[in-house]
Amino acid sequence: MVASVDYMNSKSVGNEKKVSSFDSRKLTPEDHTLIARKVELTFGEDIPRNWQGEYFTTRFFDALQLAFPEGERMFIESIRNYKSEIKDPTLVEQVKKFNYQEGQHGLGHANFNDLLMDQGINAEAMYETITKAIKLVTKHSPRKFLLATTVAAEHFTATLAEDVYNTDFELFDNADETIASLYAWHALEEAEHKAVAWDVYQEVANGDYLTRSLAMVTIIPVLGAYLALTVPMILAKDKKLTDVSEMKKGYKRFLGKNGLFRRIAPPILDYFKPGFHPWSTGHPKHYAEWKSAYAESGDMKQAYAHVRKLIAEAA
Ligand SMILES: [Fe+2]
Ligand SMILES: [Fe+2]
Repeated sequence: MVASVDYMNSKSVGNEKKVSSFDSRKLTPEDHTLIARKVELTFGEDIPRNWQGEYFTTRFFDALQLAFPEGERMFIESIRNYKSEIKDPTLVEQVKKFNYQEGQHGLGHANFNDLLMDQGINAEAMYETITKAIKLVTKHSPRKFLLATTVAAEHFTATLAEDVYNTDFELFDNADETIASLYAWHALEEAEHKAVAWDVYQEVANGDYLTRSLAMVTIIPVLGAYLALTVPMILAKDKKLTDVSEMKKGYKRFLGKNGLFRRIAPPILDYFKPGFHPWSTGHPKHYAEWKSAYAESGDMKQAYAHVRKLIAEAA
C-alpha cells in the first residue's frame, strides 16, 4: 500500500497553486505501473435483471453503463488529440496502457449492455441517444476543454472506484459475482490510471485551473440530469418506480446517512482545491491484493473472490 503524498505543499506555478510538471510526476507512487489486462468476462442469461439486489442501485449502474462505451472512447480521443506532443517516454507508455484499459472497459460494458438491450427497458434508445450526444461533444469541443472534461470525469470515476474498495465492496454484498467482478476490475484500473489524463493536461496541454474547474462544473449537472432522467425511465419499465420499499432502499443507499453521494461529495469537491492532485489519496484498500491475485490467476472473478475472502476474514 502506498502512503498518501503531501500534495498541498507543492510549489505555486502561474495562477494556480499547483505542482510543476516535474513535481507532478514525482507524486506518482514509486512502485506504480499500469497493466494492460484483457477483459475475459462473459454475461449470460443467468445474470439476474436485478443483479445488485436492489432495483434502484442496479439501474443506477446500468444507466451509467449505457454511457460507458462511448464515454471511454471520448477519454481516449481527448488524449489522442495531443499524441504528437507527448514526448516523455514514461508518459507515452502510460498513455498506451490508459488507452488499452479504457478500450477494454468499453468492450466489457458493451457486452453487458447487449444483455440490457434484451430486457425491454428501452436500453437501445437510451444507448443511442447518449452515444450520439457524447460523439457530438467529442467532435465539437475545443481540444483543451475536451481533455479537461476527461480529467474531471477521471476524478469522478476514480473517486467512485476508491469508495467501492475503501468500503469493502459493501455496495456489492448481494450482487451477482460476475457483475461485481466486472466493476471490481474496472474500479481498480480507474484508480490505477487516475493521473494519466491529469499528467497530459498539466504537462502537454498547458492545463490551467479555470478550464479544469469549468469542465467539472459542466459535467456534474450533465451527469446528474442524465441519471435523473434515465434511472426513473428504466425503473418505470421494471414497474418499480412506484415500489415504495425499493425507492426507500435507493434513497438510503445514495442519500441517506453515509449514503454513496454523501461519501463521495467531499473527495469530488477536493478537485476544486488549487494544488489538488489525483495521487493525493494513494491507492485504495485491497488494490495490491486484487492485483496480485489477478497476476496469479489471470481471472477477474478469482481476483474479486480473493478480495471478498480477505474482507470476510477481517470482519
Ligand atoms: Fe474506464
Ligand atoms: Fe478512466
